[in-house]
Amino acid sequence: MSGREKIGKEVPPEELDVAKLSGIGPATKQKLNAAGIYTIMDLLVQSPTYLLDILGGSMEKVLNLQEKARKRLEELGLIQKDFTTAEEVMERMKSVEYITTGSKNLDNLLLGGIETQAITEFYGEYGTGKTQICHALSVNVQLPKEKGGLNAPAIYIDTEKTFRPSRIKEIAEARELDPMKVLKNIHVAKAINSSHLLLLVKELGRKIMETGARLVVIDSAVAPFRAEYIGRGQLAERQQLLNLLMHELIRIAELYNVAIVITNQVQAAPDVYFGDPTRPIGGHVVAHAVTYRIYLRKARNARVASIMDSPHHPPGEAVFVINKGGISDP
Ligand code: GTP
Ligand code: MG
Repeated sequence: MSGREKIGKEVPPEELDVAKLSGIGPATKQKLNAAGIYTIMDLLVQSPTYLLDILGGSMEKVLNLQEKARKRLEELGLIQKDFTTAEEVMERMKSVEYITTGSKNLDNLLLGGIETQAITEFYGEYGTGKTQICHALSVNVQLPKEKGGLNAPAIYIDTEKTFRPSRIKEIAEARELDPMKVLKNIHVAKAINSSHLLLLVKELGRKIMETGARLVVIDSAVAPFRAEYIGRGQLAERQQLLNLLMHELIRIAELYNVAIVITNQVQAAPDVYFGDPTRPIGGHVVAHAVTYRIYLRKARNARVASIMDSPHHPPGEAVFVINKGGISDP
């Protein structure tokens, strides 16, 4: 059993709260939480200089605290005694796994499915199936491993008010899962605006620890920023916040070995005269942060997915359909 699998199963989540460490009082806890550090694991994997920035005081104190965190995780059996650095802890927890999309074509295009430790972005015009894919994945992650799942819950952050439990129920039934159980294993948060979204993302680490989730969906990650920072003068500020969001997501995907799926829409690209004159929103900030970008478009009776700008994937397309069971091959 890997370290990751133990987490959330054998150790009650409250045991992992940073406040459980001796020497962390309410004020220190508050400073750590404000920086998105909730668990003992979060504390251990931070760089000491960053912690010094957050906590003040002396470097000696910081190192002392991290040493306590390491010892505590050893006691809890979450890391081995001979592991010494945070980097090694992370390495040990890591092993990439895949979640099936439900379509073999699309899984093949992705060389196995949606990856953990990565951010996969689905972008495209309205009605291309982004939200449907998010619903399907939230069910599929709960499938047993031999059926393409990770036997684990999902976290679903909805910024567009388009999450539909009834649709989840339908997909679960088609996949021969208990719909009530499936619904219970999707932890939904509705983000009302971009700052709320950032707040929810800051607390993701703790939520993942609590629930044992292996998939995090954000539908849509970019739209709230686009809606709120409209003027040209606000572009820099918008990009800065988006950058913050994306970097937090990268950190979470790697640290907790979860798959992160985000959706994005397109905007017209006035300088493109050949090919598709649209591109995803968010510019370089989002482009550089995501691991995989999948472009969706409508075809006659199906949808077509293309993988964009990936150095590891041969260029190609996958045709899929949206149906009762989520998505599948035509
Ligand atoms: P925006 O969020 O508006 O940008 O679009 P989107 O890409 O998220 O589109 P969405 O995933 O909502 O896909 C919409 C398409 O999925 C519709 O045009 C329908 O064809 C199909 N669809 C939506 N709901 C269902 C459903 O309950 N069952 C089935 N079989 N198809 C559905
Ligand atoms: Mg949608």
